[in-house]
Amino acid sequence: MSILSTRHLMTMDDLSIADIETILDRADLHAAANASGPGTKKHGSLRGQTIVNLFLEPSTRTRTSFEIAGKRLGADVINISGSASSIAKGESLVDTAQTLDAMDTDMVVIRARAAGSPQIVRRNIRGSVINAGDGKHEHPTQALLDLHTMRANFGRIAGLRVAIVGDIAHSRVVGSLARVLGRLGASVVVAGPPAFLPARPDVLGVEVAASVDEAIYGADVVYLLRIQLERLGSLQLLPSLREYARFWGMNSQRLAALAPHTVIMHPGPMNRGVEITQEVADSIPARVLNQVNSGVAVRMAIMELLLANCAEDLSPIAAKELVNA
Ligand code: CP
Repeated sequence: MSILSTRHLMTMDDLSIADIETILDRADLHAAANASGPGTKKHGSLRGQTIVNLFLEPSTRTRTSFEIAGKRLGADVINISGSASSIAKGESLVDTAQTLDAMDTDMVVIRARAAGSPQIVRRNIRGSVINAGDGKHEHPTQALLDLHTMRANFGRIAGLRVAIVGDIAHSRVVGSLARVLGRLGASVVVAGPPAFLPARPDVLGVEVAASVDEAIYGADVVYLLRIQLERLGSLQLLPSLREYARFWGMNSQRLAALAPHTVIMHPGPMNRGVEITQEVADSIPARVLNQVNSGVAVRMAIMELLLANCAEDLSPIAAKELVNA
């Protein structure tokens, strides 16, 4: 399967290894242009295209980076939040999608509480759809930006050992990241309280460690997850947050036990003092803001790939091609 034929990004399964490499390579070029200063960030490849960010759940990183990415590519970007849309007045997602389609939009980026919402939009619009996080199902652009950050740090994905610690069971980030790491030749070990462990680790292709210390031993990447309270309902499955932090949180002692090359990642938002201490969040191995930075470049690459006719249609990103659109 390739997104070049489907023109949508619903799950990481929509992406071939070649697609992933194309996106990460293209994102490298955008990241370099983004870092070079105000004169080089804009690239007019999506000029004339209309992109709607339909965010029915809260977001800081994903919504903002999609907006920045679209604008840097010269597209017209419209943001709709659940509370400010007619969904708050009882309109269905199908009617919302058909309404956006009637306005000749070219792409809808959707985040929603219910798993499967992006597929509903996909069936009701002519343009491309990107899943920006659906329930506890998937968050494919997060996985791609994580891969971009790992590759920028280590120069490769194959052979890495990634320890994912925290609320695995309710995480859409794990839903997208764990299997693709396996496809790319990395190994994944997870750890967390029993209530947060995956029901089918074999389906995710992950090992389960008995403790956080066992999981992070020998890891190249320690990837922390917050407790997904919005999908959990209550904290009754857990001891106190203080005990959670002690047994499952990343703290200075655990940081000191890591190999010098190991990096700390977190998709955000972080709950400092719970899954990660202040010291670790602000430590030198932390790559949390690198992940955010990768997010803009990766989303630029994905949008271009979905809206271009083929990979060869992507215009070069070189200083002379960059435009102030
Ligand atoms: N990682 C992530 O999806 O963050 P936001 O909820 O802020 O978009």
